[in-house]
Amino acid sequence: MKTIHLDGHEIPFEDGQTVMDCALAADKPIAHLCHLPGYTPYGSCRLCTVKIDGRFSSACTQPAREGMQVESETEELKEMRLGILRMLFVEGNHYCPSCEKSGSCRLQHAAYNAGMLDPHYRPFYPKREMDASHPDILIDNDRCIFCALCVRASRDVDGKAVFDISGRGLATRLVVNSKSGLLVDTDISVEDKAVHVCPVGAILVKGRGFEVPIGMRLYD
Ligand code: FES
Repeated sequence: MKTIHLDGHEIPFEDGQTVMDCALAADKPIAHLCHLPGYTPYGSCRLCTVKIDGRFSSACTQPAREGMQVESETEELKEMRLGILRMLFVEGNHYCPSCEKSGSCRLQHAAYNAGMLDPHYRPFYPKREMDASHPDILIDNDRCIFCALCVRASRDVDGKAVFDISGRGLATRLVVNSKSGLLVDTDISVEDKAVHVCPVGAILVKGRGFEVPIGMRLYD
């Protein structure tokens, strides 16, 4: 059986698995946001950065190789992840107490796990247009972390390609593939995987909020 070493633990892998795949299978999770099992690796958030044989690499895109020495839970990498999370928080509007996704948000969960107590940096207060055009679905663009999970879900699972990511750096935007650029002019439906795969509160089903009581939510 082929193995890698993750923080001193010997972990088996099969050909075709990434470092993230075999770490998750061995119940040795590495922090991640843009990765979701079953979806094509995207490698955008860099939260899963590890050191492989002394070099930085994203665990979700790096294929596992026999004998790899992987470091994940070192002080250096934990500090780096905390920095990434703080930047993600200030780059968007992430006010957990007033967000419908609170308790079920993977960004919030990652921040709790990283011991983040404050955002540290000055908030950007972005003012991106909200898309409330669709009768059942809402996009709050100020909460988007550009993980492209909705893009991959719509394209690869729903077979519709409703979403895309456009621009770079501060100009990066989630865009809707319709002539008007509005969700109402696409064939998206509330049952689509793309509507339910958002790790934060950027894509929400209208008319539903705070359905699960505090204390019973996924990451409470
Ligand atoms: Fe690997 Fe986002 S989870 S880069």
